[in-house]
Amino acid sequence: MAKIIYPDGSQITELSEIQNTLRQIDITLSHWELPAGDSEKTLLEQISLNDDEKETLLEAVEHRFEELKSSQGYVTRDMIVLNENIPGLDEMLAKFSSIHYHTDDEVRYILDGKGYFGFVDKKEKQFMVEVTAGDYINVPANAEHWFILGESKRIKAVRYFIDTTGWTPVYTDRPLAFNLENTPH
Ligand SMILES: [Fe+2]
Repeated sequence: MAKIIYPDGSQITELSEIQNTLRQIDITLSHWELPAGDSEKTLLEQISLNDDEKETLLEAVEHRFEELKSSQGYVTRDMIVLNENIPGLDEMLAKFSSIHYHTDDEVRYILDGKGYFGFVDKKEKQFMVEVTAGDYINVPANAEHWFILGESKRIKAVRYFIDTTGWTPVYTDRPLAFNLENTPH
């Protein structure tokens, strides 16, 4: 379940309060049930997944894609699986740990693991949202944000796209208000 963390260490843990805080900067957060079948549970516990296994999980949550296609116009989806065994993981993550935006929405349904999205509110105050299994987050195009993985360096998430060519980070050079070395995550 998601929580908000501020640079001074204070937190918001109540879902409706988190949703209200995010809504002010046009970010949607929901909490959805995970696939509960035995085979899906086994796949979610694996560290890595092959393409067939990813497709099995994607099909288990295909009703979410169908909803998003009709309500928001998303046209493709895939699954990203990150873990510490992936070569070049730190270099890949470094692209997203500085403040940036995209010209497409960044839409994630977390199925396993833990990550942190950082945002800048309307008063230019920064905060992070911890996302874990079951959390759905929609970061709209052009919203400043950043992303880091949790300490386990492990995440499985469905990504939904309107236009994958718009999903290149554009850096804003805004400094982070967080010292990520000292921030528990
Ligand atoms: Fe991003």
